Amino acid sequence: MTDPAERDPELLDKVVNLTKRRGFIFPSAEIYGGFRSTYDYGPLGVSMLRNVKDEWWRAMVQERHDIVGLDAAILSPPAVWAASGHLETFTDPLVDCLTCKERWREDKIGGVCPNCGGTTFTEARAFNLMFKTQAGPVEGEGATAYLRPETAQGIFTNFANVLATTRKRPPFGIAQVGKSFRNEITPQNFVFRTREFEQMEMEYFVPPAEAETWYAYWIETRFAWYVDLGIPESMLRRHVHAKEDLSHYSRGTTDVEFLFPWGFDELEGVANRGDYDLTQHATHSGVALDYFDPATNERYTPYVIEPAAGATRAMMAFLLAAYHEDEVGGERRVVLRLDPRLAPYHVAVLPLSKKPELDAVANEVLDRLSPHFMCDYDVTQSIGRRYRRQDEVGTPWCVTVDFDSLEDRAVTVRDRDTTAQVRVAIDGLVEHLAALRPPR
Ligand code: GAP
Repeated sequence: MTDPAERDPELLDKVVNLTKRRGFIFPSAEIYGGFRSTYDYGPLGVSMLRNVKDEWWRAMVQERHDIVGLDAAILSPPAVWAASGHLETFTDPLVDCLTCKERWREDKIGGVCPNCGGTTFTEARAFNLMFKTQAGPVEGEGATAYLRPETAQGIFTNFANVLATTRKRPPFGIAQVGKSFRNEITPQNFVFRTREFEQMEMEYFVPPAEAETWYAYWIETRFAWYVDLGIPESMLRRHVHAKEDLSHYSRGTTDVEFLFPWGFDELEGVANRGDYDLTQHATHSGVALDYFDPATNERYTPYVIEPAAGATRAMMAFLLAAYHEDEVGGERRVVLRLDPRLAPYHVAVLPLSKKPELDAVANEVLDRLSPHFMCDYDVTQSIGRRYRRQDEVGTPWCVTVDFDSLEDRAVTVRDRDTTAQVRVAIDGLVEHLAALRPPR
């Protein structure tokens, strides 16, 4: 695997175009001209995004016995954000170009206005990225609420609830997937940086003495998750933050970076948050957020190791890594070599013709497969065109029902990557396809 930009300088445009054309990602409110870098996930996109989140949940919650799940509210009172430090420090430096009046994030433009090339700006001022709103019909101080800019704080504010209602003891984690909102000054690069996005975060509570070990463990575990789901190691790297670049809560942060078309950039951050959050919330709320260890008779505030990923950003990385153009039978094709666990459809059922007798068998096949696999059904145009359509959206297997199927009760299974075809009995088809899918 080579650098995607080297592979094709138009890669980003091609992927953006494909995701729009094939129903993965649409600009939001498009019939009204779109809305400020917000996006809607179409029929294929919602399926793929769900798969990304499900795989994360499977790896982080289902397959582990030391992590539990949570789904906290998106709206929260100012007290939470005063304690977390977001009201004071969750800011980016905002400047206005003195020539064209456009507003920019100072640290992202290198002193040159991306709009007009101007080089004179206002003094930078701290711009808070949280969306502020009002809960209830009465305006005023007491009604102020914020849309969460990260899912993490809902986990910290529920620490005592989870400890009291589960039998978990440090080291243990609380995982959450959900929307977060940041009033980014310059959203950019498609769904890489948007104002509304989805996060997959886990806060892992550990005895302070074990923090460094768990920090190293989570960096490697999260790196391996992307590799397991098909991103080549050559397109990933670890980036250790310099001390002066650390967030206000962090004692150490290492990003897992992906080779985006514009270069390596953050996919996920793994941070050692120390006891910052639990101490802050305990102080501000007056509720003790510590742990008494009956084995040692010691009371302590756990340290937190946090792997924080973006679901929408991860989906974009999986799409970019999967995009390929090759040749099949002398014809060029676009193929998304997505891991079958992430592909929007696992199987496409394709009757060779629209004849009713083929349609009946194809529907029987579809009914048998649908409880086990996400299936598409396509009967329009030539079989070659239909294969191309499925390749382009990453469907790993096409099942073709032909006239022989009426006699031998078998179908042809075509592999997306090799285009090899095998004949499989309808009765054994579910087992055949299940065996092809990577083990869960
Ligand atoms: N709780 C820690 C935290 O939120 P972060 O590095 O600010 O850390 C974690 O965010 C991840 O969330 C990022 O690595 C990225 O994948 C995703 N993310 C953050 N801001 C985003 C945005 N504006 N648009 C899309 N994804 C974003």
